[in-house]
Amino acid sequence: MRTTISLLIASAALALAAPSPKILPLKGLIRNRPAPEDLLAQIEILKVASLAAENTTETETITAPYKNVWASLTTAEAAQVVSFLHNQTDLNLTAAADADTWSNWVGAIDLAPPNKTDVLDWIDGKASEPPRFAKVILQFQATDEPYLEEMIVGPIESDSSSMTYRPYTEGSTRIGNIRQRNYDADADVVYEFIEKQCSQAATAIKSLLGADWSEFDIWGIDPLWHEEVDNDERVMYWVGFWGVPTTLGDFETLLPQGLYMKIDQTSRDPKNWKLVGWLYGGVYYRGTAAFLAAFESPTFETYTRNEGVDGSWAMTDNKGSALPLDSRAPPMQILPEGKRWKVDADAKFVAYGDFEYFISFTRDTGVRLFDIKYKGERIIYELGLQEALAHYSGADPVQSGTGYVDSYYGFGPYAFELLPGFDCPSYATFLNATFHANEISTTHPAAICLFESDMGTPIQRHASSAYVSATKGLVFTMRSVSTVGNYDYSFDYNFYQDGSIETVVRASGYIQSVPMPYDPLHRYNETISIV
Ligand SMILES: *[C@@H]1O[C@H](CO)[C@@H](O)[C@H](O)[C@H]1NC(C)=O
Ligand SMILES: *[C@@H]1O[C@H](CO)[C@@H](O)[C@H](O)[C@H]1NC(C)=O
Ligand SMILES: *[C@@H]1O[C@H](CO)[C@@H](O)[C@H](O)[C@H]1NC(C)=O
Ligand SMILES: *[C@@H]1O[C@H](CO)[C@@H](O)[C@H](O)[C@H]1NC(C)=O
Ligand SMILES: *[C@@H]1O[C@H](CO)[C@@H](O)[C@H](O)[C@H]1NC(C)=O
Ligand SMILES: *[C@@H]1O[C@H](CO)[C@@H](O)[C@H](O)[C@H]1NC(C)=O
Repeated sequence: MRTTISLLIASAALALAAPSPKILPLKGLIRNRPAPEDLLAQIEILKVASLAAENTTETETITAPYKNVWASLTTAEAAQVVSFLHNQTDLNLTAAADADTWSNWVGAIDLAPPNKTDVLDWIDGKASEPPRFAKVILQFQATDEPYLEEMIVGPIESDSSSMTYRPYTEGSTRIGNIRQRNYDADADVVYEFIEKQCSQAATAIKSLLGADWSEFDIWGIDPLWHEEVDNDERVMYWVGFWGVPTTLGDFETLLPQGLYMKIDQTSRDPKNWKLVGWLYGGVYYRGTAAFLAAFESPTFETYTRNEGVDGSWAMTDNKGSALPLDSRAPPMQILPEGKRWKVDADAKFVAYGDFEYFISFTRDTGVRLFDIKYKGERIIYELGLQEALAHYSGADPVQSGTGYVDSYYGFGPYAFELLPGFDCPSYATFLNATFHANEISTTHPAAICLFESDMGTPIQRHASSAYVSATKGLVFTMRSVSTVGNYDYSFDYNFYQDGSIETVVRASGYIQSVPMPYDPLHRYNETISIV
């Protein structure tokens, strides 16, 4: 019996799970890795669908008391919004698929949630159903100062003649102008610039890293670094070289090579860009000439690089010999008399015990709950993630310059199909999740699961000489897991018999790491000398 599972996913999915996923995949940064033939033989290929089908009992159905006005936009609604926006000539939009770095294009599209007051009036029969609006991120790049701006677009009705758009100012804490300057609009072209710098130092890189520079992935800080140079604000990009795993393992973030470049990418004209410096072995070199001169000098010190690219050590499969009795099936929960919760799968409405709620799903933050009621009383209007910020630190500039704001990458696009029997009990109810980005609507099947389980400890007990009583500790969970690059965030919304509600976030996946090729005695106190 296995307590760890490995699945080979269709190769198209490999590129998506690579680190540094931007709203649009960047050329050069994300490689498709073909599955090596010998690995296919090692990995047990299981069909997720057939696992899910095993031992499932039907979910009891229920009809939602009213329409889910918080439901994600349908594919038809998103398509109508895209069509409307493309008809607005003043936006000067290019189809996302044809967009280049100098085009305006449509990024993410989510529901702009209706105003709470409007919804409550409608539920109470005092107003008509609130109209549907979309919240759209437009990427304005056909300009010297590229920016992103959120627009509210609607009402979305079969007749689109009354549709309008305007900046979604109420979705921001900023007053007035909500435009967000985009300093990274030219990422693709910057990558070509980086490649050119590498080819000028090709011999040194090959000698230090043991392979041609083109064998490595080259990426770095997010967001970009702003630095004052001679009273002028410059936009800097620190990048590092990362080993590309030669296996299916997704552990590139464990393979920093200890070589870094600093690029000044201020302005949209590549002629103004500059390689500012190289960092290797705790020494910073101002420019390629200084780096190469040092490299060619007989006193240049080289360090053992973070090789490990064959990577069996970094895979997460079972290793070593089995634990005693590990060949027996582990404990499992069953539903002896069927599911004790009800779902309206179309309306995304759930009822369990004294609880009921509606589900929505967004590109930016994944699952959200609305109108949570306990014994018929609304106790929470909206419950969901707002942001997950991953602030890194470390002895190298890429680590210390990194502060991922993960809603930018999106929790929706990275909420993939769950593994029955591992992510959730196989008897769970699985729901699909749909999101809209770059003018494409995508549905991930079985990305949300709902299940009741026994916590294995009673929520109360008491014993006296006359009687003993205990109440089972049961919990109803809604779970989704978003693998944003190297991290897997697992989100639970738990509903307990005592009326309490709990949110749980768990992290798994791979760390993003820093190499330690030098000064092992002072590994958290790197002193960098400047040449
Ligand atoms: C399904 O149930 C049968 C019998 O109840 C059991 O033998 C089997 O292991 C179960 N399979 C799964 C995946 O739960
Ligand atoms: C956009 O314009 C096209 C062509 O005139 C029209 O067919 C389409 O209905 C318009 N889309 C919307 C949402 O108004
Ligand atoms: C519209 O966008 C194109 C690129 O897609 C650009 O060449 C052109 O200058 C833009 N026009 C205006 C008026 O901004
Ligand atoms: C919410 O109310 C404000 C103020 O009346 C209005 O400007 C806005 O359009 C409303 N939003 C939606 C999504 O209906
Ligand atoms: C979920 O998606 C699958 C296909 O991927 C489809 O067969 C199924 O009907 C969908 N379920 C719901 C509840 O929409
Ligand atoms: C940091 O490292 C430098 C050089 O290795 C050493 O001289 C210094 O004492 C260290 N500082 C601390 C606080 O450990």
